[in-house]
Amino acid sequence: MRVITMDQKSFWEGLLVLLLLQEGSAYKLVCYFTNWSQDRQEPGKFTLESTDPFLCSHLIYSFASISNNKVIIKDENEAKLYQTINSLKAKNPKLKILLSIGGYLFGSKGFHPMVESSSSVLEFVNSVILFLRNHNFDGLDISWIYPSVKDNTHFTVLIHKLAEAFHQDFVKSTKERLLLTAGVSAGRQMIDNSYQIKELAKDLDFINLLSFDFHGSWEKPLVTGHNSPLRKGQLDRGTSSYYNVEYAVGYWIHKGMPAEKVVMGIPTYGRSFTLASAETAVGAPASGPGATGPITKSSGFLAYYEICQFLQGARITRLQDQQVPYAVKGNQWVGYDDVESVEIKVQFLKNLNLGGAMIWSIDMDDFTGKFCSQGPYPLVQAVKRSLGSLE
Ligand SMILES: *[C@@H]1O[C@H](CO)[C@@H](O)[C@H](O)[C@H]1NC(C)=O
Repeated sequence: MRVITMDQKSFWEGLLVLLLLQEGSAYKLVCYFTNWSQDRQEPGKFTLESTDPFLCSHLIYSFASISNNKVIIKDENEAKLYQTINSLKAKNPKLKILLSIGGYLFGSKGFHPMVESSSSVLEFVNSVILFLRNHNFDGLDISWIYPSVKDNTHFTVLIHKLAEAFHQDFVKSTKERLLLTAGVSAGRQMIDNSYQIKELAKDLDFINLLSFDFHGSWEKPLVTGHNSPLRKGQLDRGTSSYYNVEYAVGYWIHKGMPAEKVVMGIPTYGRSFTLASAETAVGAPASGPGATGPITKSSGFLAYYEICQFLQGARITRLQDQQVPYAVKGNQWVGYDDVESVEIKVQFLKNLNLGGAMIWSIDMDDFTGKFCSQGPYPLVQAVKRSLGSLE
């Protein structure tokens, strides 16, 4: 009989730990929520207090902004927000809550005065750390929509300064290191222009890939197209071949972002069109955006809970090539994601060993369960179920 020495024992134990780690690879489920969803009328009114603290691994508050080189939150219920952060984290100590700065309205112009000089960047970075620590956030997300060619060095430097400062803060602090992420474009031209990917890869914990808004009522010529197709469509030629999730994910990885740092965006909304003729397929002529939703009230755009209402009496078609559905009722056309398409998307991201899934945004899922008869948060729950184990 062989005697197992201590060395062998620890070798086998080490191997076992490794195997266990491999077995249960855990994914991130990163959920954005928007501060303006609290302004929607019932039952669309969404507040963070009512969020299940175990729904997502990461919650991201969007959006904060910058004023005089300092981070600020302009929120009607700001005081309540900080209490809620603490109570959610008390219920689930593993939950990470990040603050996102930027967004579409803030645009590039919101970042410009601050990134112009190294002293204002420093002032901003210091204000961020104080702000995040004071309010018990776990990290920062920069949603600069989008840096131009001229801005891309500013963007890289900003991220680098933040990463350095977060590291120094961690060395001094008794708390975990603050996380640093960015919400980034999925458009090929934007990816080429906006990001120095190899540099960013060193400094960011992960990217939140905005892999949606591939088609919408801004299209010229104006024809129907899907918001977030997983794959290239049969009719896609030339640059249209880039407008899908698979291409965008592959391109980020090809340009140097490690797969495990890519968190793939899945939308809980659809983009709609008003049809111009009796044609209803993808690529059919449209006369403009689809009608506004009763709650989100923005033309060309419907939340999943509004889509569920729209689907009553609509004709649903599943695109075999792009692996997502669209629905038609009268002259209205909407391309959207449902439980089936998000399950396919999660399988896709798992096959590529990506870091996980990002949801834009949890306030547009059927969070009450009143609209879709699929229980609360049908899309987020489907993503979560398909991911298996969460980080
Ligand atoms: C949400 O944030 C934006 C930008 O900071 C701000 O202008 C707006 O008033 C906020 N909305 C609410 C409901 O707090």
